[in-house]
Amino acid sequence: TPFVLLIIISAYLLGSISSAVLISRLYGLPDPRESGSGNPGATNVLRIGGRGAAAAVLFCDILKGMLPVWLSYFAGVNPFMLGIIGIAACLGHIYPIFFHFRGGKGVATALGALAPIGWDLSGMLIGAWLITVLITGYSSLGSMVTALIAPLFTWWVKPEYTMPVAMLSCLIVFRHHDNLRRLLAGEEPKIWQKFNRSK
Ligand code: G3P
Repeated sequence: TPFVLLIIISAYLLGSISSAVLISRLYGLPDPRESGSGNPGATNVLRIGGRGAAAAVLFCDILKGMLPVWLSYFAGVNPFMLGIIGIAACLGHIYPIFFHFRGGKGVATALGALAPIGWDLSGMLIGAWLITVLITGYSSLGSMVTALIAPLFTWWVKPEYTMPVAMLSCLIVFRHHDNLRRLLAGEEPKIWQKFNRSK
């Protein structure tokens, strides 16, 4: 329906607003695309500018996924289309039309998009991310491990959402290929370490 199409486009446009770039500017921090890992996301803003700015980025990026999906959920949109709307928000975050299509990795936005599926799923995913990061110290590894188990958890709590969640997971893991290469080479910085791209 036209309503769903409108929501898909709006989700993509909303996702395209890079919180990391805008909030860094607001805080007078260096551009996250030019510092640290070069990724405009909460992890890299934490590296560059500390907890306050990173928390604000995390919050806004989660909202970008949560708002359009929740709105559509209450409007009675079916599970498959909800998945497409969530994916549109993440595609906006990863390939933002307003920032030369160079965006982030979609982890926080995907978490927001999944929230309407249920707090049990969101809680399990946040738990999986935290446990991985606390044990290993690698944010990217936490994101990849969480993306890989997300479809399994989803299949367990709300099987009708497994397909769209699996698609989101593929997108997120694919987006971490540089991190994966660095992890395998032993060059990935821990979440609390400063990091320079030139290294
Ligand atoms: O959410 C992004 C995180 O998984 C990795 O970020 O800056 O270490 O590449 P970064």
